[in-house]
Amino acid sequence: MNSGTCFLRPVRIAGTGSYLPEKVLTNHELEAMVETSDEWIASRTGIRERRIAADGELTSHMAAQAARRALEQAGVAPADVDLIIVATITPDTLTPATACYVQQHLGALNSVAFDVSAACSGFLYALEIARHSIAAGAFRNAVIIGAEKLSAFVNWTDRNTCVLFGDGAGAAVLLPSENGHGRILSSHLGTDGAQAELLNIPGGGAACPITLENVDQRLATLAMQGREVFKHAVNAMRRAAETAIEKAGLTTGDIDLVIPHQANLRIIDAIAERLEVGKDRVFVNLDKYGNTSAAAVAIALDEANRTGAVKTGDHILLVAFGAGLTWASAVIEW
Ligand code: UT7
Repeated sequence: MNSGTCFLRPVRIAGTGSYLPEKVLTNHELEAMVETSDEWIASRTGIRERRIAADGELTSHMAAQAARRALEQAGVAPADVDLIIVATITPDTLTPATACYVQQHLGALNSVAFDVSAACSGFLYALEIARHSIAAGAFRNAVIIGAEKLSAFVNWTDRNTCVLFGDGAGAAVLLPSENGHGRILSSHLGTDGAQAELLNIPGGGAACPITLENVDQRLATLAMQGREVFKHAVNAMRRAAETAIEKAGLTTGDIDLVIPHQANLRIIDAIAERLEVGKDRVFVNLDKYGNTSAAAVAIALDEANRTGAVKTGDHILLVAFGAGLTWASAVIEW
């Protein structure tokens, strides 16, 4: 699936927002929980700390906080929201969708609300769906949100995975771009279901319900073949980046800032090297938050926006990769 210039009307990002829970969990604190070290985590991943949601703080609560901030920046009232899409792999409940709870929290009762499940690529999948929907005139506006409470789905006794993930949410408001300002220029999505087993939560679904007999096996937690995923991530994100840039009619040299999925600094560095983009043009915040899956690109976009790392007229490349396997990219003229 690939979208370039065939849109009925251009669509822009009119506001961004993010929310990170207060509690910080450092690498040093993890040393007391599993056999690991700050040195290993920092050198192999670039992560130094991550945020952990409070007990009663759910994905929908974090999502709503991020959405409120994005709506405020865009100047859209909750009652005027047409469409809410939440990208998450850590929903409050299997059904209904987390987006329904978000609608309730926001008081956005005139909206249509649903979730997308595309793991770390989810926010960009939501962007694509919302963009098409607004461009075609089906909706006047949309709030897209990447939100995760991964701490509830991590096996805290498995050092291979528990050091990697964190909680948080990021959001963006999409509006028609009447004067062409702030436009989404291109986007690209991809999926390889043949690699579904590389990164998953094997239990808790219909394929493997949690029972008294298997409860000790912690099957409803994230399982990953890290090295394999790493290789796929570098190749898929590089290809996705190049495709979106080409569809936008640009070259890599025209990109002012790359905002990649925040899973591993070594993956980000490898992609930047292959794209021949200097490190000063790559946004990184995984040292503070770890891998927040669908929330990562959204949080990074909001930080880049609010700290002035992106300026009006800049070309931004968003690129992500995750379980599925899935990948996604978009080029935006800020
Ligand atoms: O967001 C969705 C996409 N996800 C990703 O993109 C993640 C991709 N994968 C990765 O980022 C990396 O593969 C990891 C960070 C998960 C692992 O790094 P790695 O360099 O691939 O390490 P490894 O899995 O090959 O493990 C190397 C060694 C092993 O020990 P032996 O077998 O060599 O003795 C592991 O047991 O490091 C050991 N190890 C650890 N040691 C200390 C694994 N985790 C830890 C740990 N602390 N937390």
